[in-house]
Amino acid sequence: MKHPPTNRDAEPHGAFAAARPDAARTADFGFQAVPEADKAHRVGAVFSSVAPRYDLMNDLMSGGMHRLWKTFAVELCALRPGERVLDVAAGTGDLALKLWPRVMPAGEVVLADINEAMLLRGRDRLLDAGMPAGAIRCDAERMPFVSDHFDCITIGFGLRNVTRKENALREMHRMLRAGGRLIVLEFSRVHRALAPLYDAYSFGVLPLLGRLVAGDAASYRYLAESIRVHPDQNQLRDLFVRAGFERADYFNLAAGMVAVHRGFKLG
Ligand SMILES: C[S@@+](CC[C@H](N)C(=O)[O-])C[C@H]1O[C@@H](n2cnc3c(N)ncnc32)[C@H](O)[C@@H]1O
Repeated sequence: MKHPPTNRDAEPHGAFAAARPDAARTADFGFQAVPEADKAHRVGAVFSSVAPRYDLMNDLMSGGMHRLWKTFAVELCALRPGERVLDVAAGTGDLALKLWPRVMPAGEVVLADINEAMLLRGRDRLLDAGMPAGAIRCDAERMPFVSDHFDCITIGFGLRNVTRKENALREMHRMLRAGGRLIVLEFSRVHRALAPLYDAYSFGVLPLLGRLVAGDAASYRYLAESIRVHPDQNQLRDLFVRAGFERADYFNLAAGMVAVHRGFKLG
């Protein structure tokens, strides 16, 4: 299997050096403000805890709808055989499993995730399905790949967890070739008519499900809180534009509970 070129050995410079967390600044961790330098560890603890039951919980929490949302996101990638695609925050590999058949036999799929437990499950699921893919553990804010390499980058339900989203978006823009596209699938702002019901579900039912199924209520409370502090549809589109993406747009799914953002690197 071909491995993508990386700049892992390079000294931090440019965007890499600037991406180091600042101990004096804070980041949101759900509804808490924590030192920027601590957020990635806390998010890491959440995903190490939920990894064994992650796929089951996704089905239970969304009634299986996350599968349709992921299929829609992959459709928007408009992939062709032979293309190179990077799935950032790949987790247990749901998106990568759908991406792989669209670019093979001559293409390339790489999974990247900051969390070893999630990444290993993702890599193993692809291998079990006969879909070998590269898997690299790294932070979305400091990715070890060369510039102008990928035709498409996806990130599903991952951006919300990244400490400085603007750094991750700039990184993804850097790694795309001209004409490449970024697809972000993420929780977003639900239509206001549904907000009370959605709040009752996410702050009442989700932590309870988390406790019963994964033995961890706190991580699912974090999930509900992190959705509330994540940029809404228009704010995220603005972040795309600031990171250099063009023709940025989005598609609401399930009344805005989830949105898929798309942006292109044109030059
Ligand atoms: C909710 S899971 C999504 C997994 C998968 N993409 C999916 O759609 O099912 C979020 C993933 O983001 C990863 N993650 C969190 N912060 C990250 C970061 N800064 N860089 C890379 N991955 C990160 C977590 O380890 C976790 O695997």
